[in-house]
Amino acid sequence: MDKAFSQLTEEGSITEARVSPRTSKQGVAEVSTGLEPSAFGDTSITGIDGARGMLTYRGYRIEDVVRHLGYEATAALLLWGTRPGEGSARDLGPDLRSRRALPTDLERVLEALPAVTPPIDGFRTAVSAMDDVARVYPPTASECLDLIARSPPVVARLYHRSVRSNAPPPDPKLGHVANFLWMVQGTVPPPDRVRALERYFVLLADHGISASTLALRIVLSTRSDLASAASAALGALKGPLHGGAPPEVLEMLDAVGSIDHVETWIDRTLADRGRLFGFGHPTYRVEDPRATLLRGFAKEVAAPNRFALAQRFEEVALARLAERRPDQPRFTNVDFYGAVLLEAVGLPRELFTPTFALARTAGWSAHALEQVAQNRLVRPPERYVGPPPKPWSDGV
Ligand code: ACO
Repeated sequence: MDKAFSQLTEEGSITEARVSPRTSKQGVAEVSTGLEPSAFGDTSITGIDGARGMLTYRGYRIEDVVRHLGYEATAALLLWGTRPGEGSARDLGPDLRSRRALPTDLERVLEALPAVTPPIDGFRTAVSAMDDVARVYPPTASECLDLIARSPPVVARLYHRSVRSNAPPPDPKLGHVANFLWMVQGTVPPPDRVRALERYFVLLADHGISASTLALRIVLSTRSDLASAASAALGALKGPLHGGAPPEVLEMLDAVGSIDHVETWIDRTLADRGRLFGFGHPTYRVEDPRATLLRGFAKEVAAPNRFALAQRFEEVALARLAERRPDQPRFTNVDFYGAVLLEAVGLPRELFTPTFALARTAGWSAHALEQVAQNRLVRPPERYVGPPPKPWSDGV
């Protein structure tokens, strides 16, 4: 365990911190706590090698996982560490299907929300109202499965409320992802769309200690419950620099309009210090392997014109970002072709961020169980840069 991390006690005390006044470049005296930013802690769920562009779930490379496993099996791999059929690992499909029905109290909460509530906000509210999912610490595996299983029907119901229609009931014959598409679209989804969305769910199922997963683990570290932790995670995921990026990608492509306008639009946006959504990542120094895979998967289902516009946008964006920071080039991230894929499978934009969150419920669940198995209060060290202690003088 990391030294700074292990210094933090259950009460969050940092009394061991060394205090050493020093002067900053601006001439302001700084008091350092003596604790430097450190690794979050140990995790054995997802391995990320940002320098080599490698991602593994429980040791299996993401390229193999997405080729061989659907979402339910991926969730089992993340949760139990083994592939279904391996050792005592079980197929989660039937279990998840049997947990889809929403309790009446939860239905009432959904009905009470204003129809204009964006689905991501309604989802966050619904999760915190999942009383029976978890109001006690520590969360159990069964509560985690309830969270994964109930979330897609919740999002589908919220979507139908927002467009003033009725969601069809869950179809027990359909798998987790196909049932979500069915409940949103009201028609039996074609296999190519189900396959594309299933791959998206697998690729987005976990990504280490991302901002939302950190939020979840921080809440659990205080011995709070799963419902509170998952709603905190949803709040973090909603932001445009995290799970809020996919709809922004399509807004960008719409604003550009045609291939001829790509260069002018990107140059103007960067000159105005705007961000190009779907590019850059705090961890990867080469292309995110999920972006590589999603480029291919999106091409299979996207309208050719849309895909061609996205490709041209990507080409110019990468060139301009590299020119601006040759020392730190940015690469395509998971959200760029992820957004193109979500559009191609017919999901409305307001469901892009909730869909990212639905995929991540498997990862959040695995992290919840890992956190409580080795729980320590998460209290990261800060660096105080305010004034040093000074005398209180009257009359000032
Ligand atoms: N477009 C334009 N400029 C960018 C981009 C981008 N996509 N990414 C980084 N930069 C620039 C910033 O403007 C900043 O410039 P400055 O130093 O002149 O102010 C510089 O690069 C450093 O920016 P940071 O945000 O500090 O860089 P970091 O690598 O930590 O950022 C991040 C990662 C937040 C994802 C960023 O690349 C970004 O905002 N991308 C667009 C949003 C996006 O796609 N988010 C989803 C990412 S995937 C996920 O869920 C985390």
